[in-house]
Amino acid sequence: MTTDRPVDVHPAWLPPEAFRALGARRTLVCGAGPLVETVLREVTAACARYGGNVRRRGPATAGPADGRPDDGPADLVFALATAGPLPAGAEEVAAEHRRGREALGAEGFLLARRAGVTVVLAEEPAGLLYGLFHVVRLGESAFGAGRPPQAHRPAMRRRMLDHWDNVDVHPVMGQVERGYAGGSIFWRDGAPRGDLGRIRAYGRLLAAAGVNAVSVNNVNVHGTEARLLTDRLGDVAAIADLLRPYGIRVHLSVTFAAPVVLGGLPTADPLDGRVRAWWAATTRQVYDRIPDFGGYLVKADSEGQPGPFSYGRDHADGANLLADALAPFDGVVHWRAFVYNHRQDWRDRSTDRARAAFDHFAPLDGRFRPNVVVQVKHGPIDFQVREPVSPVLAAMPATRLAVEFQVTQEYTGQQRHVCYLGPWWSEVLRFAPWGDDRTVAGVAAGERGDGGGLVAVSNVGDDPFWTGHPLAQANLYAFGRLAWDPRLDPAAVLDEWIDLTFPPAPDGDPDLVRRTLHELMDDSWRTYERYTAPLGVGFMVRPGLHYGPDVDGYEYSRWGTYHFADRDGVGVDRTRASGTGFTGQYPPPWSEIYESVERCPDELLLFFHHVPYGHVLRSGSTVIQHIYDTHFAGVEQVHAMRRRWDALSGLVDRALHDRVRERLDEQVRCAQEWRDQVNAYFFRKSGVPDARGRRIH
Ligand code: GCU
Repeated sequence: MTTDRPVDVHPAWLPPEAFRALGARRTLVCGAGPLVETVLREVTAACARYGGNVRRRGPATAGPADGRPDDGPADLVFALATAGPLPAGAEEVAAEHRRGREALGAEGFLLARRAGVTVVLAEEPAGLLYGLFHVVRLGESAFGAGRPPQAHRPAMRRRMLDHWDNVDVHPVMGQVERGYAGGSIFWRDGAPRGDLGRIRAYGRLLAAAGVNAVSVNNVNVHGTEARLLTDRLGDVAAIADLLRPYGIRVHLSVTFAAPVVLGGLPTADPLDGRVRAWWAATTRQVYDRIPDFGGYLVKADSEGQPGPFSYGRDHADGANLLADALAPFDGVVHWRAFVYNHRQDWRDRSTDRARAAFDHFAPLDGRFRPNVVVQVKHGPIDFQVREPVSPVLAAMPATRLAVEFQVTQEYTGQQRHVCYLGPWWSEVLRFAPWGDDRTVAGVAAGERGDGGGLVAVSNVGDDPFWTGHPLAQANLYAFGRLAWDPRLDPAAVLDEWIDLTFPPAPDGDPDLVRRTLHELMDDSWRTYERYTAPLGVGFMVRPGLHYGPDVDGYEYSRWGTYHFADRDGVGVDRTRASGTGFTGQYPPPWSEIYESVERCPDELLLFFHHVPYGHVLRSGSTVIQHIYDTHFAGVEQVHAMRRRWDALSGLVDRALHDRVRERLDEQVRCAQEWRDQVNAYFFRKSGVPDARGRRIH
């Protein structure tokens, strides 16, 4: 059943109050086109609530939006530079902009305030949409002191969320693989969910955070999902129609075996003429139906998914096949670099999962078509709470690379724990692989803004708070904001999210809410790190589920994620001198820093080195004492989080307060379990007592 009624869901960072300042003003919108209509609709709704008014001037639909004459003063002008004639203030800004010749691009905008008028100027309609949400973020301050024109442009051309949503309910992974927020907003039990209002509301939230692309189905493409490419394409087109008004393009995960499973061909060999013709024809049909379709996302030869290896071909052959089919329509293929042997023998010490992506992909640099984006997980293993940056990101200068994050908290508390990931992503984006001013963010952005961009696995579902844990909304928001501008301070992004999401109640203490949320969330990623796997070693989680502690859960498994703890020490030797040689995949200076047990940063020591428990860290503590101390401290911090949250009772929405409170109870329980299992495990292995005599079981 399809419903298009207003959604009964938490407004996240776009509650009506966020539009208070804008909605009380006199606004003029100059321009035409679907995205300009979206701006107009948003402003009209805000004015209806807060008493302002809106007029429009545009070639397509001349005349005011609300029947008023098309003149009179305005406090706020949204203008397409091409819309002229513009009102005086806006015209001045536009003329200066023309003289400066600094292009704003397809999504950029210029913000200025002079003579009491706030002007948002853009070259393309999308710029006005992003400008609108910028004005919303600024609130009253958009209408305060004068502002010289300032250009805002996204650092990343594509800012994309990948949904790991299944159309059919998967027997093991459910409706959403690694989803912790209920069902899918797109699909239910094999069919479209039909809740159009919900999808539209999602698009609106994403646009306000800066996201402009969404892939609508899981990278593990099963039988029904494969058909989204052909006879179920209409289901994808329906989503595209809902997201288009917010400047969001739709992408689709496809199976590399599609020519066989859908096309009836005997092969999916990328060099076979019939296969190439099938992809070309199929892709043409996709664009006939969805002219602004974004492209394909492919997980190939990875964790059992089909790929070019079956035909003796490599990943460049595979990716280029799809790129050629997409090229006539300006589509892109996102080809994931998450390729490794998941059928390892734990007895084999020479195979190192961390090496795999580089070993497979770095030699292919230069062989990919320009419309291939190689999508690289930010770390060499799998979205752990701490990993080094993937060396692939520094190894493929002739390839467009996208960095992939995981907003869904698979390994970071599964949206039962508060874990604000902004600081973690920011650290990755600011990392300088060559030790100079070039950063990971720069690699993703590309030298001429033509890089692969930023991608993340979405964390939303059909939950009334979108994300299960209401505070996990901050991660979705922060991803979009950092993709727009990776230089933003994640603590400031957090405050931005708090201010929008928790507008001050008339009788409450606004500063208490703001301060408490900030204190609770800002350091929560490091807190999570403290009470889980220590010093970068990772993966001490319950197998399959990936929640809760299981120190040896993967130690003798085929998945290739080990810690090698014995009675003398712990950690994985990935050095060139005596280990797997993974350190050699980095350029200097990191190849040297990681190789050296003295210079390796503490937080990654056990990722790169196997050391005795008595090894003294750069912090001055021993490894074993560090394990005990951080685990005790981490749990204390979670207790403090819960106390802080309790103090907000009555100051924030009741249902939201109850939901967070219930999750914090679980976080306390789970953190204690982590502390006790990890501490007991290492005490029993090492026999070294806690120097501070605390209770270890
Ligand atoms: C992780 C995750 C899987 C997912 C995979 C991927 O391994 O546990 O559920 O399919 O990543 O990124 O493809």
